[in-house]
Amino acid sequence: MKIIMLGAPGAGKGTRASLIAEHYGIPHISTGDIFRANLKAGTELGLEAKKYMDAGELVPDNLTVKILLDRVAQEDCTGGYVLDGFPRTINQAEVLEAELKKINDKIDFAIDVDVSDEVIEARMAGRRVCTKCSATYHIEYAPTKEEGICDKCGGEAVLRADDAPETVRQRLKVYHEQTQPLINFYKERGILRMVAGSGSIEDALTAVIEVLEQG
Ligand code: AP5
Ligand code: MG
Ligand code: ZN
Repeated sequence: MKIIMLGAPGAGKGTRASLIAEHYGIPHISTGDIFRANLKAGTELGLEAKKYMDAGELVPDNLTVKILLDRVAQEDCTGGYVLDGFPRTINQAEVLEAELKKINDKIDFAIDVDVSDEVIEARMAGRRVCTKCSATYHIEYAPTKEEGICDKCGGEAVLRADDAPETVRQRLKVYHEQTQPLINFYKERGILRMVAGSGSIEDALTAVIEVLEQG
């Protein structure tokens, strides 16, 4: 199954994508995580992406698209994948669609995680992300067992550089302008499914699976 997670920054795409990936045994591919891993490793790509990420802007398509297409062409993606944070522009969606078509393939579902901007601003301030394995926590809703330490790998769980309130507001603005139009793009193709982002994290997987199994 090939799934796209849509939704505003902080809607809970990553949280859900990781649960879906685990449930179906398919890779969870987040372009944001790929950029952050590159930054941590000090690559040129990471340093270039950081300029845009820290400003709350999108990383240009010429950097983003190739990375994603290379990733989904890897061996572990043959049985499907969950894309989290890609596509983010109509152009990215069109390129992905065209590339998949070349190999007689397509996306099965685009899931829109719907949450209000107010809820998002509150969520971001409490988010903590592992610098080693990208596992995501929330100080109130999904805390680590030990403060600041990742449960999964023992790495450091910290606030993301782009989670400062001003940057979050800019990311939301960019989302509404450039990414929200994708909801219609996938609705027109008949593969859009909506899930409420406001339920508890515990119920998040059940809600998505229900939607996916209904077809
Ligand atoms: P990216 O890393 O994708 O960030 P984002 O889209 O802004 O989304 P987030 O990761 O912030 O939120 P999320 O929806 O994953 O929410 P989460 O599950 O963590 O991208 C970062 C940057 O990289 C972009 O701004 C851009 O610059 C660049 N970039 C990446 N992809 C790109 C592309 N394709 N093109 C161009 N540029 C690109 O949840 C948020 C918090 O809420 C967590 O703490 C979580 O524990 C908590 N939470 C989740 N669900 C619930 C719930 N139901 N109840 C209570 N708390 C919850
Ligand atoms: Mg995320
Ligand atoms: Zn970790």
